[in-house]
Amino acid sequence: MSTDTPNLTWWKTGVIYQIYPRSFRDSNGDGIGDLQGITDQLDYFQWLGIRAIWISPIFRSPMADFGYDVSDYTDIDPMFGTMADFDRLLNEAHRRDLKVILDFVPNHTSDLHPWFVESKSSKTSAKRDWYIWQDGKPDGSPPNNWKSVFGGDAWEWDAHTHQYYYHGFLKEQPDLNWRNREVQEAMYDVMRFWLDKGVDGFRVDVIWHLIKDDQLRDNPPNPDYSETQPTYDQLLPVYSTDQPEVHDIVAQMRKVTDAYDERVIIGEVYLPIQQLMTYYGAQNDGAHMPFNFLLVKLPWQAQEIAAAIDQYEGALPDGGWPNWVLGNHDNTRIASRIGEPQARVAALLLLTLRGTPTLYYGDEIGMRDVPISAEQMRDPQGINMPDKDLSRDPCRTPMQWSNKPYAGFSETAPWLPVDKKYARVNVETQRNDPYSMLSLYHKLIRLRNSEPALNQGSYTPLLANDQLIAYRRDSPHGDSFLVVLNLTSRPCRYRQTEQPLLTGEVVAATSPELEGATIEENIYLAGDEGIVVRLA
Ligand code: NOJ
Repeated sequence: MSTDTPNLTWWKTGVIYQIYPRSFRDSNGDGIGDLQGITDQLDYFQWLGIRAIWISPIFRSPMADFGYDVSDYTDIDPMFGTMADFDRLLNEAHRRDLKVILDFVPNHTSDLHPWFVESKSSKTSAKRDWYIWQDGKPDGSPPNNWKSVFGGDAWEWDAHTHQYYYHGFLKEQPDLNWRNREVQEAMYDVMRFWLDKGVDGFRVDVIWHLIKDDQLRDNPPNPDYSETQPTYDQLLPVYSTDQPEVHDIVAQMRKVTDAYDERVIIGEVYLPIQQLMTYYGAQNDGAHMPFNFLLVKLPWQAQEIAAAIDQYEGALPDGGWPNWVLGNHDNTRIASRIGEPQARVAALLLLTLRGTPTLYYGDEIGMRDVPISAEQMRDPQGINMPDKDLSRDPCRTPMQWSNKPYAGFSETAPWLPVDKKYARVNVETQRNDPYSMLSLYHKLIRLRNSEPALNQGSYTPLLANDQLIAYRRDSPHGDSFLVVLNLTSRPCRYRQTEQPLLTGEVVAATSPELEGATIEENIYLAGDEGIVVRLA
């Protein structure tokens, strides 16, 4: 057997960082982040050891869903800058060996996209079939019972042409009809436009929604629904999402991307593990990485998480590359979900598991969800379902760069309020503090980047109980690491059962005091502690 480390591509070995552009850095003083703001911070990513940035949508958009409603796929929204700003960002990133991943939103357009405007103009419009139009039932009600993720019915009546159109999200986000060949070709052309420019890949929005049941059958009721859940969860979306034909579309997208060198497709998929795996493609011809949201969704409990890691590892298809996520712009921030001390443990987990980590902006400094009053709420998901506390604004607040006014994000009041804690929780302050969350992320990312055992080695579970998770990472060269994480706030002990006993030194830990210690048969961890040990 060869001991050579396979020369793995960048998206396998590197760390990806998600930027929510409205909230990252405002360079022109309008209170909203922009492309120049990102370009100004590229050195930060280099310092942190990031390999690629994924930027949430920057395309022309009426911003009903803050850019996830695109009205021109091949232009930059003036709010974020110009195409020249984008070209400069891409060039400057590439000059620093940083890859740039864009957010591709193929499931729906804005209702103001010229395609939809034309489609809506008449039943005989050349683009009528580009969207999903249907007659109502004889009594005038919508064609079926499907619901919108953002609340209410998924069908909107058009009084002009007397038909309904389908929108899985806002009514301002009509779904494209991906069964139509012209739609497919138009969207592949959009991908080529950006790939030709040199973009390194796409995160594909709601990829499992792309194709709907061809008979538009009613979704069944969800027997487990409870009132606190979004109204969307009242039904099981078995006919409106995850249809078998979607895989042909994903394979086509992959083909378009693979015509270029070393590009990546990351699919957004919220599905149980077995269904998630199908998005790798039957012949490994699907998404390079369907996002794995296990750590975002599971309760923070050692045995549950350890079991899920094994389930995921075990279910991966041959050649399928794993990936891990702790947070994004749609979910509660990790520091708010499990508390700051455990967010440190989570950082160790994210950056030592096998597979590509994607890091959400601000999590590296321990940003938490910021309370947003009803008057300040901007997210349509929150506004449409006011009694359910579903707003995503709290996890989208401005990045905290320094202790200057507005956290150095902007010189003016930002579009969402800045966390009150910014004087301490900010990049500038934390860079100089060895005990900060940022110093922890910096250390872990650097370690991961330099150690094949961590960025591509094998994963072997050792133990999980009701407090801790322990596992090994081994590189083909013989370098090995042991990771022991205490997922509770009570002390715990990991008693080695391996023979011979593992020996080695702690090289990274939730707190710097732990570094340099050597391990023995019994490893004692205080509450909220985790260690990464380089094995001798
Ligand atoms: C998933 C995106 O992550 C979310 O922010 C957006 O609202 C929906 N897709 C609709 O595009």
